[in-house]
Amino acid sequence: MSAEIHVEQADGILTITLARPDKKNALTNEMYGALADIIENAEHDSDVRVLLLQGDGDMFTAGNDVGEFAAIASGKGPSERHVHRFLHALAKSSVSIIAAVQGKAVGIGTTLLLHCDYVLLAPDAELITPFVNLALVPEAASSYLLPLRVGHVRAFEMFALGEPLDAQTAVAWGLANKVCAKDQLRDDARRMAERIAAKPAGSLSAMKKLMREAETLVAQMDSESAKFQERLTSAEAREAFAAFAEKRKPDFAKVARH
Ligand code: COA
Repeated sequence: MSAEIHVEQADGILTITLARPDKKNALTNEMYGALADIIENAEHDSDVRVLLLQGDGDMFTAGNDVGEFAAIASGKGPSERHVHRFLHALAKSSVSIIAAVQGKAVGIGTTLLLHCDYVLLAPDAELITPFVNLALVPEAASSYLLPLRVGHVRAFEMFALGEPLDAQTAVAWGLANKVCAKDQLRDDARRMAERIAAKPAGSLSAMKKLMREAETLVAQMDSESAKFQERLTSAEAREAFAAFAEKRKPDFAKVARH
């Protein structure tokens, strides 16, 4: 278990907390491994009726650890990338998942919300999908799910520009259920988790399976992953990661298109 993922189980609710606030909860391979284990195990644990996902600190998560992206780009990445197992587990999960989001939800921080069943946002929440800004492609089946949820032109804008979507707009576009006061976020999420945990879990689970085509989602994730892997080692992506490390703007004009 990763020290940067905290888990607490009570009353049928498994609360998962991203706990790397000094790095804005950026997700490492080890953290993905822990998250994958938790979601896979929950699927077979009848004591878990709801998963509640939240992040410590001022933002939900800054997305994938960019240092780890850079390591992969230079051929020094881990032998096994647990993100795939995490995404497959999310796609296949029949347990109800609630997310409580404050501050920024970047990259996979936003795309994982497309696999959650009830999403609460603090007023300062911002959904950001900067895949193109990093010279990558969307993941987590978001290239399929986001256009389905918000329509092609809005999804294109979110992916191509990578600009933050504010909380009210996210609710209006159907990406979240409601905005609640920041100091109430965790309590409200907990109350919703308790309401859902009191429902017949077998029925909820069957309903969720009917609502989501897990096989389609996994297939889309696998196509995205192949393209993502290819893009990670591109000259454009190396420029984007170097720019992040050097705290400067990337200069894509100097990189040939391919
Ligand atoms: N990967 C690795 N480290 C990250 C990170 C990430 N995705 N996001 C933030 N951090 C680190 C920063 O490098 C910094 O570390 P340092 O204190 O050792 O310098 C620390 O977290 C605080 O981040 P900082 O950038 O100072 O916070 P901020 O509030 O000014 O900005 C963000 C927050 C999220 C806007 C900014 O950090 C950012 O753009 N991060 C990258 C997001 C991203 O592209 N993710 C990948 C998506 S596919």
